[in-house]
Amino acid sequence: MLYYKDILRKNREWAASKLEKNPHYFDKMAKGQTPPLLWIGCADSRVPSSEIIGAEPGEVFTHRNIANMVIHTDINMLSVLEYAVNALKVRHIIVCGHYGCGGVKAAMGHSTVGFVGKWIRHIKDIYNKYKTEVDSIEDENARWNRLVELNVQEQIVDLAKTSIVQSAWKNGQNLYLHGWVYDIKTGIANDLEVSMEDASKLDDIYKIHL
Ligand code: CO
Repeated sequence: MLYYKDILRKNREWAASKLEKNPHYFDKMAKGQTPPLLWIGCADSRVPSSEIIGAEPGEVFTHRNIANMVIHTDINMLSVLEYAVNALKVRHIIVCGHYGCGGVKAAMGHSTVGFVGKWIRHIKDIYNKYKTEVDSIEDENARWNRLVELNVQEQIVDLAKTSIVQSAWKNGQNLYLHGWVYDIKTGIANDLEVSMEDASKLDDIYKIHL
């Protein structure tokens, strides 16, 4: 119970430190949110979205799942995306993967069953798509890292395939999709330069005639 009591105490200390700097800090928060950013990241405890970009509460609308996936039947992700784009009008969506991702690693193996097994099958499809490239990498860790990057790249495209994102673009809303990879060993996040700001790079078959 020590740990549990400790985190409650730390919460009180955190709130007090915010009030010390600005007595109206939480009054302002309570008035509503206008976050500029939707973050889609891995559930991994080592990649806390707000903390690694020095963001304050109110800045990052967040969706996290195992291996930062954008699955087009995932009503949870779609609800977050719809609300973030249509109601909050976020300008940026960052899909942030990370090296050392256990979900991606599991997808490269053959022993994961249950719900996680079903979930990571989507990553197996990506592995299969880029099999020639990934399998040509000799070092196992480098192969894993590359699949982490390819997974992010594919999630950006999957975001662009949604009617939510395509409608926003068609309506002239400024909406930028960015793919990042965070390195747990250094704390540094890199932009993979797979950004999209319109549907021009999307394969024609995925373009919705709105
Ligand atoms: Co992960």
